[in-house]
Amino acid sequence: MRDRGRPLPRERRSGYGRRVEQTKYLLDESQIPRHWYNVVSDMPNPPQPVLHPGTGEPVGPDDLAPLFPMALILQEVSEEAEIAIPEEILDIYTLWRPTPLYRARRLEQAAGTKSRIFYKYEGVSPPGSHKPNTAVAQAYYNKQEGRTRLATETGAGQWGSALAFACKLIGLECKVYMVRISYEQKPFRRSMIQLWGAEIVASPSKDTQSGRAILEEFPDTPGSLGIAISEAVEDAAQRDDTSYSLGSVLNHVLLHQTVIGQEAIAQMEMAGAFPDVVIGCVGGGSNFAGLAFPFIREKIAGRDIDVLACEPAACPTLTRGLFAYDFGDTSKLTPLVPMHTLGHDFVPAPIHAGGLRYHGVAPLISQLVKDELIRAEAYVQSDVFASAILFANTEGIIPAPESSHAIHGALEVARQADEAGEQKTILFNLSGHGHFDMAAYDNYLAGKLEDVALDEAEIERALRAIEGLPTPA
Ligand SMILES: Cc1ncc(COP(=O)(O)O)c(C=O)c1O
Repeated sequence: MRDRGRPLPRERRSGYGRRVEQTKYLLDESQIPRHWYNVVSDMPNPPQPVLHPGTGEPVGPDDLAPLFPMALILQEVSEEAEIAIPEEILDIYTLWRPTPLYRARRLEQAAGTKSRIFYKYEGVSPPGSHKPNTAVAQAYYNKQEGRTRLATETGAGQWGSALAFACKLIGLECKVYMVRISYEQKPFRRSMIQLWGAEIVASPSKDTQSGRAILEEFPDTPGSLGIAISEAVEDAAQRDDTSYSLGSVLNHVLLHQTVIGQEAIAQMEMAGAFPDVVIGCVGGGSNFAGLAFPFIREKIAGRDIDVLACEPAACPTLTRGLFAYDFGDTSKLTPLVPMHTLGHDFVPAPIHAGGLRYHGVAPLISQLVKDELIRAEAYVQSDVFASAILFANTEGIIPAPESSHAIHGALEVARQADEAGEQKTILFNLSGHGHFDMAAYDNYLAGKLEDVALDEAEIERALRAIEGLPTPA
């Protein structure tokens, strides 16, 4: 951090002499972190190597060069603790960073808890989520190395709109493959992506070989992130002017998100508090890592912190998946990644948290779960929406369905603490707003939201896809 600033008093008097309790903890623009934090430098067991599917050997920088600029490949394999953020990226970050940290007093009151609940709000960015923290960085490094176009996938549309926004600001073309179910459920995310000048198509699409093959076999598929990744990777691999850009999972993406947790540490200090529990929702893992990794640094250094990852019961990668080598996409175009997975051809039920419908999760998070530095829980969507509504009716912000998993996790932790007669300080990441998710809220309010039970037989079937692949040590 440039300067953490002077701590503010926890209680202050308003201009009228009224005693008020502080709600928001705000940093100055000069306090935007100047570096990203690399958790690899502190992990007790570093992540296992990513493998070339043909040779079974670790992939090297040259293998990745057709897809990514070298600066990002070097960040992907870096063991440095801190990586400086270029000035141009910091300049763009000032459009929404530092983001506010709130004390959720009204939520606490409504829940009747004795615990303190804080949340870091990433929905203040122009596209409405944490995703531009890495989108801007990725667009910047690609431009530096002369690429003129990026191809990507998007689930809920948050990542696609973040990358379209970043490409517009930095001056790159952008093509987005959007998971078909979200393309249909979220027409205005689609408009937003087009407004920022990107080309967008529903995935699976007829624009790629892998899209055409899936459409032939499953014409009615709702699509999945795994399928959309196959299409974007194929697009980028076939054009010299184009890089592939991923909104989550990879080490460098998680790295870019660590501005969130660094700011949160400074803001918790302003509040005179430190969390007992740090919580985030997990799709590929980037917003969770962004908040949690700087706290995990403290945990590895000896502080007692419970770090909780929240996922949907319809796509329970961390709680019911295997830690194994698997492909990151459905058509097996990516290298083999050591991660918790449900199998690369698993197509999750079309729940409304589209950004959490991914068969795998970041290898860094997988390793930390394996090493018991992170624990995970899975929730059904009707419970998650009930918590989202309580949050909207107390704190006012309408949360993204993805982020609502973290709200539900925080309320569960608070409830369990009350039952145990304990008082906890809870911090969660509110990764985005849900202004483009109103169809999902309509369904919930009309009583039409269905919980999907995922039976063991389907998990067993899907995991058969990874039989014969290498096993992590
Ligand atoms: C608001 C929001 N939160 C969370 C996620 C999940 O992604 P990740 O696990 O990479 O943070 C998404 C993905 O689209 C999202 O849009």
